[in-house]
This record gives sequence, C-alpha cells and structure tokens, in this order.
Amino acid sequence: MEILHVSAECYPVAKAGGLGDVVGALPKYLAEAGHIAKVVMPMYRTKFLYENKWDVVHKGSAYLGNTWFDYTVIKETTNKLGFDLYLLDINGLLDREKIYSYPDDVERFTSFQIAVVDWLSSWQHHPDIIHVHDHHTALIPFMIKYCYQYQMLADIPTVITIHNAQYQGWMDWDRSDYIPHWDGWRWGMLDWNNNINPLAAGIRSAWKVTTVSWSYLHELRQESNGLEALFEYEKGKSVGILNGIDTKVWDPATDSYLTDHYTIDTLAAGKRSNKEAICKEFGLNPDKPLFVFIGRLVGEKAADLLPAAIGDSLYYIDQRMNFLVLGSGEAHVEQQLDDMRSYWMGYYNSKIGYNEKLSHQMYAGADFLLMPSRVEPCGLNQMYSMRYGTVPVVRRTGGLRDTVIDFGEPGGYGICFNNASVGDITHAVYRGVELYEDQMHFDNIRRQLMEKDFSWDTSTNQYLDVYKSLLT
Ligand code: ADP
Ligand code: GLC
Repeated sequence: MEILHVSAECYPVAKAGGLGDVVGALPKYLAEAGHIAKVVMPMYRTKFLYENKWDVVHKGSAYLGNTWFDYTVIKETTNKLGFDLYLLDINGLLDREKIYSYPDDVERFTSFQIAVVDWLSSWQHHPDIIHVHDHHTALIPFMIKYCYQYQMLADIPTVITIHNAQYQGWMDWDRSDYIPHWDGWRWGMLDWNNNINPLAAGIRSAWKVTTVSWSYLHELRQESNGLEALFEYEKGKSVGILNGIDTKVWDPATDSYLTDHYTIDTLAAGKRSNKEAICKEFGLNPDKPLFVFIGRLVGEKAADLLPAAIGDSLYYIDQRMNFLVLGSGEAHVEQQLDDMRSYWMGYYNSKIGYNEKLSHQMYAGADFLLMPSRVEPCGLNQMYSMRYGTVPVVRRTGGLRDTVIDFGEPGGYGICFNNASVGDITHAVYRGVELYEDQMHFDNIRRQLMEKDFSWDTSTNQYLDVYKSLLT
C-alpha cells in the first residue's frame, strides 16, 4: 500500500506537540511493515531544513481566492527518517520559523492544502490512501471530493485523524472563495454554525475518522467544542486507535540526550544519577521525590492549576518533595510559574520555553510526572515517562484513562484522580510522596512501568486494518 500523510507537524522536522511525534513515527512503522509511506508538510524554516539535502520534485501554481501563488515541493534525498519526506514551500506564507500562531494562519494552511491537492493531481499514479491530521489538513478530503478541478482524485480513500478537536480552523463564509471552485450544493459539508469549519468538513468528507484513543472518541460525543452532534452522527465511520511511542527515539538505554543510560536492570542507579544531574542544575534536593510537569501551559493541560497545586503541596505536605516545570503557553501562567521560583527556592524550579533535550532529561531524572489535563486526546508524555521508569500522575480522561491504571487497583502502576482541581492534584502528590517513601513498593512499580509496551506495533496494525477496509 502507498499511504500519503499530510500534516502541519512531523518530528524531527518541526514539532509543537504530540502531533509531530505521531507523524514522525507512524509512517516509519508503516514503512517497516513493508508499505510505502510518504509525508508532506509545509516547508517552515527550521534547522532540519538547512541541515539536510533536498531535490526539487515539483513546481506548480494555484489560486487562493483571487491570488495566484507559486509553490515548490522538495524531497529529502537520503530517506533518513525511514519514509519519503516532502516539504512544500509557498513564498510569503510558509517561509517562517514557527509552525502556528500567525495572523494569516487561515491563508497559510488553506493554500498549503490547495497546493498539496494540486501537486497530487500532477502525479502519474494515485496513492492508495490519503491520511490527514487535524484541522490544518482537514479540507483535503472535501477538496478532492467536491472541487471540480480535482475530480480525478475523488476516488482516493481518505482518513482523518483527530488529535485535538478543540481547534477547528473556523473561517468566515466570505472566505469561501479560497477553496478552489467547488460544487455549491455541498455548502452544508463545510458549514457549522454559520462558519466554514474545516474540521467538521473533514469529518464529514473523509471515508474514515480516527481519534487517538478510545476514551477520547467516546468523550467527543459529550464535549467537543460544539461538534458533539457531528461525532454522534458519524460514529459509524469512527474508530479510536491509541497512539504508540517511538521506542527507538525514546529509550533510556540509548537516548542521545542523556549522559547516564539505563535499562530495567540498572534502573535504580540510572534514575538516581539522572536525578542528581537535574537536581543539581535546578537547585533541588535529590533525596526528595521529584515531581515534574512537561507540556503546553494551557487550559487543556490544566496548567493554570499548577501554581496553586504546587504551592499547596509544598505548604501542606511539609516540603517533602521537589517540583520542576518545563513548558510554554499562556503568559499569565508562565509569569506565575516564574514568580514562584524565588519563594520556593530549593523546592521548586521552572524553565519557561520549549526544550527537547531538557524534556528527555526530565523524563529520565523525575520520580513522578504530573498530567492533570482537563482534555487529553491521547497524551504521549505519560507513555514516555513510563518507558523511563517515572510514575505517571494523571487525571482520568481521554488517553490517560486508557493508558494508566492506579496502583491501588489490581495490576495498577500509576496514580489517578478524577477532577482537574487543586485539591485532587495535591492529594495525588501526597499519595506519590507516601509511595516514594515505601522504597520497595516504589521500586516494584518502576520496574512494572519499564516492562510495559507502548510501541507503535499494535497501533500500526490497527491503522493498516482501517486502510485495508477502505480498499476492498
Ligand atoms: P500535546 O500534543 O497536546 O501537547 P502530547 O502529550 O501528545 O501533548 O505531546 C507533547 C509532546 O511535546 C511530548 O513529546 C512532550 O515531551 C513535548 N513537549 C511539550 N512541551 C514541551 C516543552 N516545553 N519542551 C520540550 N518538549 C515539550
Ligand atoms: C494532541 C493531543 C494529545 C495527543 C497528540 C498526539 O496534541 O492534545 O493528547 O497525544 O495530539 O496525537
């Protein structure tokens, strides 16, 4: 099978979160399973672009509304990621350093999608499957079905994976001419509450919808930022497939970001030396349990609760632990997390920003990873933490519910709580401290974590089943 993934992110080319990790891994595993996997993404100006060699494979032009634009597709020459990687450039729109958060994101991603479809129409053959991810690429299933110019692509089966339904790419109807001349009778496929809603259009137009965990699929019918009825209506063609993790990139035995490597046999010593290094760097005490948070500082992750939960834990649980936070996001949360550093010096520290290397060192050096998320479609952090022998402390939601069992339950290995509240987080921290002080129990749990298998193998087969079901 030949599968073309279209995405805004792909690790290590450009990553803002888990979407990048997934699109950097799934195609690699599909290729290892004997299929032709391709990824096309925007050509942002990232380090990866400048450090690698590229061939120009196509040049074309298309319209965004009344604006004529040129685009270029380049391909990485050595196949170093384990799949065919294509970058698509549009001067003036995609030639930027960051992935998101520009005022013209609608124009950027709409023209990217038009160019992808236009490029595809020039191929001598068709891929077997087009697999798009989230709202930035969700207009593609609509375009190939209903844009007159691209009718030759209409028979290619499309799959859309929902990594995050909070963001839907809304645009006003006065931008409807951005989409290449389309069948006006199909306006209902684009519309949701009097706006063009690309995510809704993708869910309606794609042949199959997948979500990144089973629980998230279920939750979307109750709460999905306005699309609940649509998820209910389309449940027949929807399926939940839990993400895997790239166990080659995320391996404490070989991780190039770590100076002290370890395996399950050297777990205690390996964790200890990584913890000492990180505690030294951040002025923390390695004899106390270390709780870390790594992630986007946004409401979905309940990052706004961290300052109070950390303060309360340190105050009420007698400073029996340390905290370290790495993240970036909402300015007021960043400010609070930064301000707390002087007050709780020696017990708490934070690093505001995005730092891939430090994140790996934190997964390795921490005892506990906090994920109090209000919404968590899958969550990769908890799986990385388990692979590194770090106990996940999670709210029971979405993919966290599907991957972590509380250690109080039979076969359990994590700490779970029900509410995204300061009280629940603080109580979970207390349980962690007590567990840590019961050294034998703690060590057993850490071993159990490292034995778990969250690799992509199972999920890759599930995606293959979905693709196959569309080809027969
Ligand atoms: P989401 O995609 O919603 O942000 P995930 O748990 O799926 O959440 O994936 C987050 C990914 O981004 C993980 O690889 C995590 O390590 C990484 N990450 C998030 N914030 C940072 C940061 N500030 N520095 C380094 N890595 C980060
Ligand atoms: C999204 C979700 C996260 C998920 C990731 C990869 O960013 O917020 O939970 O793990 O996509 O699918």
